[in-house]
Amino acid sequence: MTVESVRPEAPVTPELLEPPFAGGGVPVLGHGWKLVRDPLSFMARLGSHGDVVRLRLGPKTVYAVTTPALTGAMALSNDYIIDGPLWESLEGLLGKEGVATANGPTHRRQRRTIQPAFRLDAIPAYGPIMEEEAHALTERWKPGETIDCTSESFRVAVRIAARCLLRGDFMDERAERLCVALATVFRGMYRRMVIPAGALYRLPLPANRKFNAALADLHLLVDEIVAERRASGQKPDDLLTALLEAKDDNGDPIGEQEIHDQVVAILTPGSETVASTIMWLLQVLAEHPEHADRVCAEVESVTGGRPVAFEDVRALRHTNNVVVEAMRLRPAVWILTRRAVRDTELGGYRIPAGADIVYSPYAIQRDPQSYADNLEFDPDRWLPDRVKSVPKHAMSPFSTGNRKCPSDHFSMAQLSLITAALATKYRFEQVSGSDDGTRVGITLRPHRLLLTPVPRS
Ligand code: HEM
Repeated sequence: MTVESVRPEAPVTPELLEPPFAGGGVPVLGHGWKLVRDPLSFMARLGSHGDVVRLRLGPKTVYAVTTPALTGAMALSNDYIIDGPLWESLEGLLGKEGVATANGPTHRRQRRTIQPAFRLDAIPAYGPIMEEEAHALTERWKPGETIDCTSESFRVAVRIAARCLLRGDFMDERAERLCVALATVFRGMYRRMVIPAGALYRLPLPANRKFNAALADLHLLVDEIVAERRASGQKPDDLLTALLEAKDDNGDPIGEQEIHDQVVAILTPGSETVASTIMWLLQVLAEHPEHADRVCAEVESVTGGRPVAFEDVRALRHTNNVVVEAMRLRPAVWILTRRAVRDTELGGYRIPAGADIVYSPYAIQRDPQSYADNLEFDPDRWLPDRVKSVPKHAMSPFSTGNRKCPSDHFSMAQLSLITAALATKYRFEQVSGSDDGTRVGITLRPHRLLLTPVPRS
């Protein structure tokens, strides 16, 4: 027996691999030019390089995660937080103290404050407003006219969020101002994120002036809403009251800045995402008249011909499946980022502390390994017997884990209700000048969707 053969065995520590680099980078810019030029195809192709791959964005190495299982594992792990260039630029514009950008105990406390307003059992109280807004949307339109779906979708999304969550008579006029301010701010924010040329945005150019004015008006509006609620002495059971009465970890009232940033952090993600999804739903109703007809028939079978109501939504299976399928193919939130807070691993790959990580719900939800006929619009894939074949975390438009969107029930209720109201009143046709190609911004939406409503007789 040799001396070596009696040595105790070394503990088995799995060898962590360095993720492969994605191909196709160019000197200096790395993969950045591809990400700017055609981000959706670029993200969708990354999976062919590996489950975790490294990208070069200028001088930086960024990690991309490409499988449902690993994106789910990351979202559920404490090793990753909200941080990185995307969030820093959002904080600079929208405020540092809101729930969407906070981490750790502050984030947990803020989620506890806002969560009751979004709980499943809180949603029926918003039913009458959602109903009123869904029907008002269709009643604004005249048969045969051209509808600019971008402004109409934004309008209804902001009105529902603002009226449900920040109740008050003043909301109608304010909701209109919020629409204008948010649409401009989002456009400018995306530009500032993909082309981070700080000095350029300080020049007194018309586009910069418009952006700065819209941003200032957004912050002013929020201040006005908070001040008026305080002056009214009223405390309706809503999100704004919850924010005004919130206490910090020491039991003291939270500061003015945090109240302000919280309102901004809820209104801004809440309007752009819903508005983009409504645009895609309108596009789907126009492009797939057979599904629009099925939605109409389903709604009529449930309502017997009266206007659709919030209480009907639960029974509208196909309508709900149309909404889910539209969100699968065109998820409003198409890219998400995280930062590793410690050395860790994902799928056997080494992820160093401080690494910026990116993943795309768009790519995950279109992956042919998860979905048969992956690019087909097929709402029936969500029927109970077929849905079982969808891998875990392969459909996660609201994300998962501690950063999951608080508004999934709130959003799904209004989106189904709006789809039902639209499809029962009209058929839709795209008109000349309409462009339903995908515009990539902070969210995904059609470039310029113009429809004409044709009344159902
Ligand atoms: C179709 C509609 C919506 C979609 C697809 C959506 C999607 C998402 C996603 C994917 C996240 C997670 C971001 C991350 O993991 O980094 C998120 C977070 C968030 N969403 Fe939504 N959202 C929608 C509507 C809304 C609405 C209506 C509101 C509020 C009125 C809202 C408020 C928020 C907030 C406050 C967060 C931050 C949560 C946190 O970090 O703890 N969202 N949303």
